[in-house]
Amino acid sequence: MSVKILITGGCGFIGSHVVRQFVMKYPDYQILNADALTYAGNPENLRDIEHYPNYVFRQTNIVDEKAVEELFQSFRPDAVIHLAAESHVDRSILSPLDFVYTNVIGTVNLLNAAKRIWIDEKNNSASRLLFYHISTDEVYGALGETGYFTEDTKYDPHSPYSASKAASDHFVRAYHDTYGLPVVISNCSNNYGPNQFPEKLIPLFIHNIIHKKPLPVYGDGLYTRDWLYVKDHAEAIDLIFHRGKTGETYNIGGHNEWKNIDLVKLLCRLMDQKLGRPKGESEKLITFVKDRPGHDRRYAIDASKIQRELGWKPSVTFEEGLSLTIDWYLENTEWLQHVTSGEYMKYYQKQYEQ
Ligand code: NAD
Ligand code: TYD
Repeated sequence: MSVKILITGGCGFIGSHVVRQFVMKYPDYQILNADALTYAGNPENLRDIEHYPNYVFRQTNIVDEKAVEELFQSFRPDAVIHLAAESHVDRSILSPLDFVYTNVIGTVNLLNAAKRIWIDEKNNSASRLLFYHISTDEVYGALGETGYFTEDTKYDPHSPYSASKAASDHFVRAYHDTYGLPVVISNCSNNYGPNQFPEKLIPLFIHNIIHKKPLPVYGDGLYTRDWLYVKDHAEAIDLIFHRGKTGETYNIGGHNEWKNIDLVKLLCRLMDQKLGRPKGESEKLITFVKDRPGHDRRYAIDASKIQRELGWKPSVTFEEGLSLTIDWYLENTEWLQHVTSGEYMKYYQKQYEQ
């Protein structure tokens, strides 16, 4: 029997890698990608798989309760992998409400619709029913010089983004505890790789180095993040989806901590080599700017649970991943140019509005 999976946010950065992984690896699954196509959703990310027979795209805003309800009633998914979100901390500082709408209300709309068809209508599907919520390590707040986030770390979000993701995680657990909805959650560290929108640190700086624009390093540049290649995250999601225990949480991380300034200098060195520029040229673009308010000092994940229970660990080293990522942006200048100009919105109109 074919398993029907609703993936939300599949035109975004991580979502597009997850959709591709599931569509190509599991031809028996029917994948419906529901995405509102905000500034961050780009159907060009899935151009290579959009004609696969087991793939369908449906433009849907998860904030629209009726649209979500209709989607669930017509598609009747056996499982949901929920990635749709407003995802950028700096934007959340400027417009917190957008984050409440999509990340909190959008998630609750999905939970209600899943509850309706799986619990209230007493679904007796032969498949395993599962609401898999994709979240972030930022819900745990900030670490000092030492220590790691585990699955038991107390939630302590600081930015409007992390507060909205924390709220959504709590709602997912509440629907499990209150209504018996089968759920699983994973909280992952910072991702990087192809197709990431150039507002996040790594793709923004790659873009700026190409165009010889300033590299705005916030504050003293000594903030630390734990970086994971996006395809390793997609593999972890695949494993948790198939073998994770219902009701559980899994932390996913790269064992790969970098202070921002060290990462930026490494990126500059690699880009100089790849672009055939004199050594040290791109580092001259580094510009220290005013700090982000409420900036979390350090994130680092203890990923021993997923390693121990599901046998997952990152497969791509940072040097490899960064090199692959830079090569991808250098080879896909059209993609970069489209997203920075807003041109990619037209691709959607061409493909789906006829
Ligand atoms: P992204 O911003 O690249 O993509 C988000 C996608 O969601 C876009 O395609 C967008 O169009 C869609 N979307 C936004 N609002 C929507 C709405 N109201 N209805 C339907 N679709 C909507 O984000 P990403 O970096 O790919 O992150 C995906 C998920 O992973 C998010 O839930 C995020 O919190 C989580 N996460 C991200 C990271 C990271 O480093 N990027 C790390 C850990 C967890
Ligand atoms: P970002 O990619 O926005 O991810 P997050 O805030 O979710 O961790 O930022 C990564 C780190 O880089 C974070 O410490 C903020 C910093 N940063 C800069 O110094 N300059 C920038 O222009 C950006 C976008 C981020």
